[in-house]
Amino acid sequence: MEKLKDVAEKLGIGEFHRHVFLCTGDKCCPADVGQEAWDELKKLLKEQNLSLSSGPNACYRTKVGCLRICQDGPIVVVYPEGTWYAGMTKKRIPLFVHQHLMEGKPIEEWIFARNELG
Ligand code: FES
Repeated sequence: MEKLKDVAEKLGIGEFHRHVFLCTGDKCCPADVGQEAWDELKKLLKEQNLSLSSGPNACYRTKVGCLRICQDGPIVVVYPEGTWYAGMTKKRIPLFVHQHLMEGKPIEEWIFARNELG
């Protein structure tokens, strides 16, 4: 158990305000398109100091194999807001990170469903 706690602490678990799940396909999008989006998300979260961070925009990220939408991907869901995004290719990731994850303003035209938790 101590080892688990150490790992969680190193990852900053307990400090996050958001969790982003990105599906890398390959039913909602080709796997290479999903992987490019994931690489861009990882890079920008690191550059903007949002991952492994304790600030107000600290954000955990998880790459997943399917979110059960299976079309118009890459599909992204952000909690706790529960905003579901479609078409989240690499090209869209910078604006998504800046506007939603840093400024807290979801990008309405890319959202197809909502399920706020809490
Ligand atoms: S493969 Fe991406 S939502 Fe199912």
